[in-house]
Amino acid sequence: MEEYEKVFKEVLAYIKPKPQEKEKLNKIANKVLEIARKEARKIGGKAMLAGSITRDTWLADKMEFDVFILLPPNLPEKKLEEFGLMIGKEVMERVKGKYKIEYAQHPYVSGEVEGIRVDIVPCYEVKSPEKIKSAVDRTPFHVKYVEKNLSSFMSDEVRLLKQFLKANGIYGADAKTQGFSGYLCELLIIYYKRFIELLKNCVNWKPGEIIDLEGFYKVSEYPKLRKKFKEEPLIVIDPVDKERNVAAALSSENFYIFKKIAKEFLLNPNGKLFFPREIKPIEESELILNQIKRRTEIILLKFKAPKVVPDILWPQLRRTAERMEKILRENEFVVLRKDVYTDEKENAIILFEMEVSKLPFVQKRVGPKIFDLDDSERFLKKYKGEALVGPFIENNKWCFEVKRKFLTAREKLFDSLNKDVKILKAKGIPNYVAEEISKNFEIICENEKIMEIVKEDKNFGIFLRKYFEKESLI
Ligand code: UTP
Ligand code: MN
Ligand code: MN
Repeated sequence: MEEYEKVFKEVLAYIKPKPQEKEKLNKIANKVLEIARKEARKIGGKAMLAGSITRDTWLADKMEFDVFILLPPNLPEKKLEEFGLMIGKEVMERVKGKYKIEYAQHPYVSGEVEGIRVDIVPCYEVKSPEKIKSAVDRTPFHVKYVEKNLSSFMSDEVRLLKQFLKANGIYGADAKTQGFSGYLCELLIIYYKRFIELLKNCVNWKPGEIIDLEGFYKVSEYPKLRKKFKEEPLIVIDPVDKERNVAAALSSENFYIFKKIAKEFLLNPNGKLFFPREIKPIEESELILNQIKRRTEIILLKFKAPKVVPDILWPQLRRTAERMEKILRENEFVVLRKDVYTDEKENAIILFEMEVSKLPFVQKRVGPKIFDLDDSERFLKKYKGEALVGPFIENNKWCFEVKRKFLTAREKLFDSLNKDVKILKAKGIPNYVAEEISKNFEIICENEKIMEIVKEDKNFGIFLRKYFEKESLI
């Protein structure tokens, strides 16, 4: 037996659901499905199981299944949502479970019965995937495709892949993770058959790699496809919809992380890569040492996390970081690297590591050529009052030395954010973030204050360690 096969066997012993667990999940799923069917039928709809339960690819520590409510496509969207929630709630009440409403393309019921999570998602029952109204409507077609193409021996191969990705923080197509969805894992296994084959092949993937399971496109059309899915490192053509990239959510960084861990495993097959390693929160001494070694300064922008779903929150935080970096740069403050953090409940934090965070008291204003008489007159008039030195001439241009308005990045950040919500939005700060920042925000530079946050939230401490100990991607 090959070395890796031993490892897979050991890993599967941990992650594969036990027969009793399977029985329990299936029993509850069938009960839920039966009620959902009856309820859906009352309004001309259907119900079906979807997701990993239908292909036996779920991991033992994720006791969850998905139920889809299929409703007629002529139903107005509002009604679809209303009926979906109504059925979801009714079902959860009938099985005596708890539930809450979650938000994706449509709001849906996410419940819990006997320690098992149930997602009850409404969608339109369309005739073919070209007729879908929103992304969820594709799911029933995915169920059919995987049912037909995923052989039973592949279930465990998918589990190995999911666990491998999960342990390394890249399982999930949500905006926070930007990794591989469950369906993408299944397609990759259908294509490569074995997890080990996927690993051996992915080390040769290049950005813009194309996997077209159904052969919808000729190789001569690949350059066109790469343009269509520009900036998407992995292109897996959806077998049920040739216009869609199933791997669209995968970030470039995660594409390379996957290639890297695959290579690591092939060089040294062992179980370590299948289980998350423990990362300790950063210590104050390390935080200080990092800044001394790098001679940079850390600035945190902290505010209350807006009450929106993570799939909206994370992109808005990233966009805020982008915007603020630009604003700083326009004022000569240079961000070396940045990152965003949120506990998705209380706090949102944007970290800027500054390459230039302090500037001199004097600032030089270089004006027009002395020969441009009109421009010169305007320039001289504008700065005369604030001149510390000048006007003087350099290379036939008028110059002044004036007092700089903001001497530190901190002051500049404070000034540009201490505004009302309208102005913040006009500056390009995304809506929900602008609303929170206009109510309150803090700018934190002192290490003791940074450590106070770490003390209250160790995940923030872990985030800081990962920030400084950023891993090499190759
Ligand atoms: P899941 O996220 O539950 O994935 O979505 P999965 O394939 O079952 O894998 P695991 O084992 O649970 O991690 C199941 C199906 O429901 C759709 C997804 O697209 C997928 O087809 N879905 C789920 C949505 O479209 N929207 C949602 O909000 C949730
Ligand atoms: Mn699922
Ligand atoms: Mn789900």
